Amino acid sequence: MTEAQAWDTYSKQRPERRPTNAAGENTWFNWTQYPDHGPGAELLGVGPGASVLDLGCGKGGNLAHVATLGARAVGVDVSLAQVKAAESRWRHTGMTLHRTEAIQFLKESGERFDAVFSVFGAAWFTDPTVLLPAIRQRLRPGGVLAFSQRPPIEGCYGCQGSYINRSEDEDPLVVKRWDHEPERWVEILAEHGFTAATARILPAPPGHRKIGTLLVRAHG
Ligand SMILES: C[S@@+](CC[C@H](N)C(=O)[O-])C[C@H]1O[C@@H](n2cnc3c(N)ncnc32)[C@H](O)[C@@H]1O
Repeated sequence: MTEAQAWDTYSKQRPERRPTNAAGENTWFNWTQYPDHGPGAELLGVGPGASVLDLGCGKGGNLAHVATLGARAVGVDVSLAQVKAAESRWRHTGMTLHRTEAIQFLKESGERFDAVFSVFGAAWFTDPTVLLPAIRQRLRPGGVLAFSQRPPIEGCYGCQGSYINRSEDEDPLVVKRWDHEPERWVEILAEHGFTAATARILPAPPGHRKIGTLLVRAHG
């Protein structure tokens, strides 16, 4: 099984984004695993005409919102199922989609971006020592890199395994992810030439669930 097949399997298990959010909007930005929670697209610091890249765009809900802000919205995802879902729902926004692996895209594309983001996306599932230099090549000087993911489990740092479950008779599929504490992310970003890096854990909204969201932001 390839990584792309694992993510195709994941795609089938994930519901589409709701038609509207709690504010009644048709598109919105959601950095966290909780609906109607957390900051919005303002973290990207871009306006109309900016070029914005989403690494691991999935079904495209966040990228669609970026497109409606007047930005040139480019999404990359390794899963054909995810890209097809994004295309069928959001093609009308004018977003551009590439079915390819993030590092491959960053190395082969000649485009430059004002902001690069990833929401529980390829930035979580790619070795940062490979990903961050590749992003810097595509990010305009001073441009924003921002990504979110689940915080690390205490004591479990670096490359970790994640299961994608299948039927009862089949073994789960495995993908790799990279987890670090916020302070370590700030160091890693500085080691790769990013500036003004911040990393924090946004608390979960009031309720039963306690796991927050790691939110990382830096300039290229
Ligand atoms: C957990 S989903 C999140 C999708 C989307 N960002 C969202 O918030 O709904 C992770 C996505 O990253 C994609 N992905 C994982 N590793 C990737 C890689 N190396 N290159 C491109 N896409 C990748 C998967 O196919 C999947 O669509």
